[in-house]
Amino acid sequence: MNYEWEDSMGIRILASPAQMKSDLPDCFTQAAAMQVQNLHMQIEGYKPTPLVSLDALAEELGVKKIFVKDESKRFSLNAFKGLGGSYAMFRVLCEVLSLNPETTTLHDLLDSRYKDRLKETVFVTATDGNHGRGISWAGSIFGCQVHVYMPKGSAQARADAIRRAGPAEVIITDMNYDRTVEYAMEMSRKNGWHLIQDTTLEGYEKVPTWIIQGYLTMANEAREQLESLNEKPTHIFLQAGVGAMAGGILGYFANFYSQNKPIVTVVEPDTVNCIYRSVKANDGRIHSIEGDPFTIMAGLNCGTPCTITWPILRDYAEFYMACPDSVAAHGMRQYAAPKKGDEVIISGESGAVTMGAVSLLLSRPELLSAAKAMKLDRNSVILLFNTEGDTDPFSYEKIVKAYSN
Ligand SMILES: Cc1ncc(COP(=O)(O)O)c(C=O)c1O
Repeated sequence: MNYEWEDSMGIRILASPAQMKSDLPDCFTQAAAMQVQNLHMQIEGYKPTPLVSLDALAEELGVKKIFVKDESKRFSLNAFKGLGGSYAMFRVLCEVLSLNPETTTLHDLLDSRYKDRLKETVFVTATDGNHGRGISWAGSIFGCQVHVYMPKGSAQARADAIRRAGPAEVIITDMNYDRTVEYAMEMSRKNGWHLIQDTTLEGYEKVPTWIIQGYLTMANEAREQLESLNEKPTHIFLQAGVGAMAGGILGYFANFYSQNKPIVTVVEPDTVNCIYRSVKANDGRIHSIEGDPFTIMAGLNCGTPCTITWPILRDYAEFYMACPDSVAAHGMRQYAAPKKGDEVIISGESGAVTMGAVSLLLSRPELLSAAKAMKLDRNSVILLFNTEGDTDPFSYEKIVKAYSN
């Protein structure tokens, strides 16, 4: 039975007890994570991102621990997304060169005998920013060409960051995100380029699966870091655009912990809550959000759930939250001006919404019954992923400063 809360800020929460109807796919397992991490570890500059424990905040909010996996420190990328793009491009290149991805090292791939083939290979993608930056960066690692298309309204700062990250040619289109994805696909067909898209399309699931597998590095690192502290997460809050990242990470933890899986909440912007709406419709199918919805959470502004991870999100998450932009802004400020003794974390709009959600859930009297339904209490060990830093620095400054004035 679904149950719904709505508070006066406009936060909506849907409870849909995990029913575990579908089998977990075997692509988001520990073994898959190890293979992926093995590639990432060979990239220059690799180190696990920090797992920050916000003890003063946890104390104030009445839980045991709040851990934040800080992906703003991922390589030089200020976001987690490059994990997915780099792994998927590696897999595509192994196919192009007929190499076995399980035994091929990065060093093997970069051997001089493949240099010309790599140079001729062209990747194309559509992005709101973070994914494109990762693809551009990976293009410089592999020595390939990259074309990036961005939806209308994309911040110039994000386009510039993609150009700086690597060889990408970047164009801001006059189309919305979904249309820009279709355009990137058209360009890939027309020119024989490799589409490297984090969204699933009809007949296009192999590359998105590799991209999602690429994200497992951060889940595996987080689990190992928690284990070294003798902790296990009881609750995970995952932000979602198409839900590829959230579904992959949930798949990993559900696989790893099996029946002892943490309670998982999927968090989306209220204007683009396609997963929330799809779960609420309760007919098992995905439901898209049409038109040009706006949210400051640019990375989460996606109207159609990812078909690979949708069954995992539907059957293995317990709660879904739809949050107005003010929740993301609150999370950014919470990270930027932490409680005394806690570390500062730089977090952008899409990265911070789960922090905003948790801190409001645990402090607003109106949401007490929802927090109780989630079994959030003194024994809770909460895990969040700060999926981006200040990827739009102008917006970051404005939002974080608005608080201190
Ligand atoms: C910073 C950030 N967080 C989270 C996400 C959500 O990822 P997904 O679209 O896989 O749900 C994105 C996607 O671009 C992102 O940029």
